[in-house]
Amino acid sequence: MKKILITGGAGFIGSHVVRLFVNQYPDVEIHNLDKLTYAGNLENLSDIDQKPNYRFVKGDIVDAEFITHLFEQERYDGVIHLAAESHVDRSIVNPMEFIFTNVVGTVNLLNAAKNIWKDNYEGKRFYHISTDEVYGALGDTGSFKETTPYSPHSPYSAAKASSDHFVRAYHDTYGLPTVISNCSNNYGPNQFPEKLIPLFINNIKHNKPLPVYGKGINVRDWLYVVDHARAIDLIFHKGRTGETYNIGGNNEWRNIDLIKKLIEIMDRKLGRPEGTSLQLITYVTDRAGHDLRYAIDASKLRAELGWEPSIKFAEGFEKTVDWYLANEKWLDNVTSGSYQDYYRKMYGE
Ligand code: NAD
Ligand code: DAU
Repeated sequence: MKKILITGGAGFIGSHVVRLFVNQYPDVEIHNLDKLTYAGNLENLSDIDQKPNYRFVKGDIVDAEFITHLFEQERYDGVIHLAAESHVDRSIVNPMEFIFTNVVGTVNLLNAAKNIWKDNYEGKRFYHISTDEVYGALGDTGSFKETTPYSPHSPYSAAKASSDHFVRAYHDTYGLPTVISNCSNNYGPNQFPEKLIPLFINNIKHNKPLPVYGKGINVRDWLYVVDHARAIDLIFHKGRTGETYNIGGNNEWRNIDLIKKLIEIMDRKLGRPEGTSLQLITYVTDRAGHDLRYAIDASKLRAELGWEPSIKFAEGFEKTVDWYLANEKWLDNVTSGSYQDYYRKMYGE
């Protein structure tokens, strides 16, 4: 039986990738390696965790000895690497954690894969999941291509950029069969409510202020998380070795417009008169180094592998709101304890 290691599978995107692979490939053993940081939650996988081809491994990718031993024991055929510290605001407060996990952790995985595959790379693949933030910020026009020079601005994106460079270096230096994708902002079920959409859904529900950074004019390109998982499946199986693929939703929104749309949906679903929650909008100090605009040119992925987003934003956004409203317990569980301290530090009471 083939064995694939997915790292960060208890997180937001990782859990959707694990679910897709476990269901789609019953003859492949899927191992989910996750440290279970504040962002990792095994509840995300309760619908598939009893399947015979699924196994959870608790561990830290920063621990080189553990990773070496795991790879020697399990002799994986492929790696899909999503584990990371992923929140820009946290990276501004504590950059070191991002360097350890995103850079050192990635290099530990590269070393372990190189070590077990060195005699024969045939049929092996190391797939590194990255972000559009490595390309920096755009002005009012244009979009990121795979050839756009890297220009990261936050400690998060600098650490992701560094890990991308290491992945390419291992391909070029040792011939490791790698592939990388850089995706735009994901939204959907199971996203930790420190990120814009779930945070604001939760705050609207509880009538709490909505902290809009700066003037709310920053632009993000939103993609439904299941469409990202579909792209990852395609690239893992059919992407060309040594290549990079951009993934995006072709769906740009100014933050303030997205927030107003969210308020409209939430007020309707909560049975509040239209526009009630607009009063919760509170402009706060801008995020340091806040990138103005991201936009992805995904034409390479479309042309080579035929990928297109399958879910229209209007549908995906409604589904997302419905999921958070129907999964109150999930939201309450992840917003208790240490998250409360983080919230107080970031935004006050
Ligand atoms: P997330 O924060 O929701 O999940 C990260 C997961 O990694 C968690 O389960 C966490 O426990 C695990 N993890 C963290 N440190 C670890 C360590 N040292 N060892 C083992 N596991 C560890 O993140 P996400 O939003 O699902 O992002 C997943 C990946 O996709 C990241 O690499 C991120 O850079 C990338 N990405 C995210 C987006 C987005 O919009 N969220 C867009 C493009 C790319
Ligand atoms: O572009 C891909 C990236 O998208 C991923 O690599 C990151 O892991 C992911 O976190 C996300 O980064 P962003 O910084 O774009 O996402 P976030 O949800 O934190 O913020 C989205 C926008 O909303 C951004 O312009 C900042 C703004 N914002 C965010 C928060 C949390 C606010 O105005 N107020 C807030 O409270």
